[in-house]
Amino acid sequence: MKQNQLLFVCTACDAQYAKWSGRCLECGQWGTITETVQAEVRKPKSEINSTYPSLETQRLADIQGQNVLRIQTHISELDRVLGGGIVPGSFILLGGEPGIGKSTLALQLALMVPNVLYISGEESVEQIKLRADRLSQLSAVSCQLSAGNNIDAAIATIQRDKPALAIIDSIQTMYTEEAPGEPGNPTQVRAGGAKLMACAKTSGTTIVLIGHVTKDGTLAGPKTLEHLVDTVLYFEGDRHHDLRLLRAVKNRFGGTDEVGIFQMTEKGLKEVANPSQLLLQERGADAPGSVVTCLLEGTRPLLVEVQALVTKTVFGYPVRKASGFDLNRLHVLIAVLQQRAGLQLGQYDVHVNVVGGIKVNEPAADLAVALAVASAYKDKTLGKDLAVFGEIGLGGEIRSVRQSEKRVKECEQLGMRRVITANSSKPVANSDTLKIIQVKNILELITHS
Ligand code: TYD
Ligand code: MG
Repeated sequence: MKQNQLLFVCTACDAQYAKWSGRCLECGQWGTITETVQAEVRKPKSEINSTYPSLETQRLADIQGQNVLRIQTHISELDRVLGGGIVPGSFILLGGEPGIGKSTLALQLALMVPNVLYISGEESVEQIKLRADRLSQLSAVSCQLSAGNNIDAAIATIQRDKPALAIIDSIQTMYTEEAPGEPGNPTQVRAGGAKLMACAKTSGTTIVLIGHVTKDGTLAGPKTLEHLVDTVLYFEGDRHHDLRLLRAVKNRFGGTDEVGIFQMTEKGLKEVANPSQLLLQERGADAPGSVVTCLLEGTRPLLVEVQALVTKTVFGYPVRKASGFDLNRLHVLIAVLQQRAGLQLGQYDVHVNVVGGIKVNEPAADLAVALAVASAYKDKTLGKDLAVFGEIGLGGEIRSVRQSEKRVKECEQLGMRRVITANSSKPVANSDTLKIIQVKNILELITHS
């Protein structure tokens, strides 16, 4: 690229173009592309410059390991996701859709840990107080509140007060005068993130930064910060249901396979010790098209009900709808049911629903979806004591899924009497209360259930 060349940059997503256009091809926004001058690009020289001082190195074996004392949040689901508590001086990003409960979780955390500074760019201190009053926890005396939008002022406050934990709600509402653009645009978000990171590392204060993400997770913001921070937590769930999952997407100080499960109540977020029970408690009478499957969220088994409704197509093409399940996957399963099990679904509408606002993205749910559709089509009930899990291949074969024993155990604990799973999975012993039926293919599945 020639030096000092004209460059067109989108103010919303930072995409760069050689030519101006009315609409940004990256983020799809209109009228956001502006002209800038490309800064002089210095070409790296190919010859070796020996004037730089060399780096100090240390032998790995000689380095003394530090035993970091983690701060316990006393919210066991949160501690679990963080890998056993908060590491002092770490930088945690808490992302999620607007309205999912990020501020509520952050405030509950602020009330549980001593010496916290909560800076909100979204609410006034009176509003935060109102929220704290709603929560069932006792208000901690050591929690300091402040409302403001300036990142530099927030950092100055952290450096002055040296809290153990500082919560910034949210990155989209904060700005720094040293970066161009409005709060929330990528340049501001990146600059603010970098400043907070430096602050966390030098002051020893743990910073929890809240960031809003849209449904598809594309809104420039938290995504651009992910590589910078130590830990990325995503809070997800369906706003119309009260179950919320807290996932660690990245964690420099712990695993990423743990999931925290909460329930949003009138009095804030409650930890859920037995989510399967919560999900199955409203299960209705034994109806055709309803079956339970066992998913694995992180390392925890979760029993959820899958429902299907099959009705004759009234006009035109048959309708296929899925909520909580991938529609493309449903199309594949219907094709497999037609071809390998002889179910004539070509003239039937198929609706599939996963109960409780749970979004299934595990192949282990294939078996449940296929069986629910077959049960609804045949108008035959399966019994409330049946649980199924397994992946279905295009040939109609049923494959085993990871951690079968754990899933079987959870089914047994929740009172299931029969479990149908793949034949190839490691043999799991039948017990007095639980019968395990292992099936090879989808045809066997339909005859056995
Ligand atoms: P909030 O934490 O403000 O969401 P975010 O910060 O992610 O945008 O939570 C918003 C929702 O939570 C709101 O719809 C009200 C609900 N809520 C409860 O149901 N119970 C409560 O005790 C509180 C504080 C909020
Ligand atoms: Mg909020």
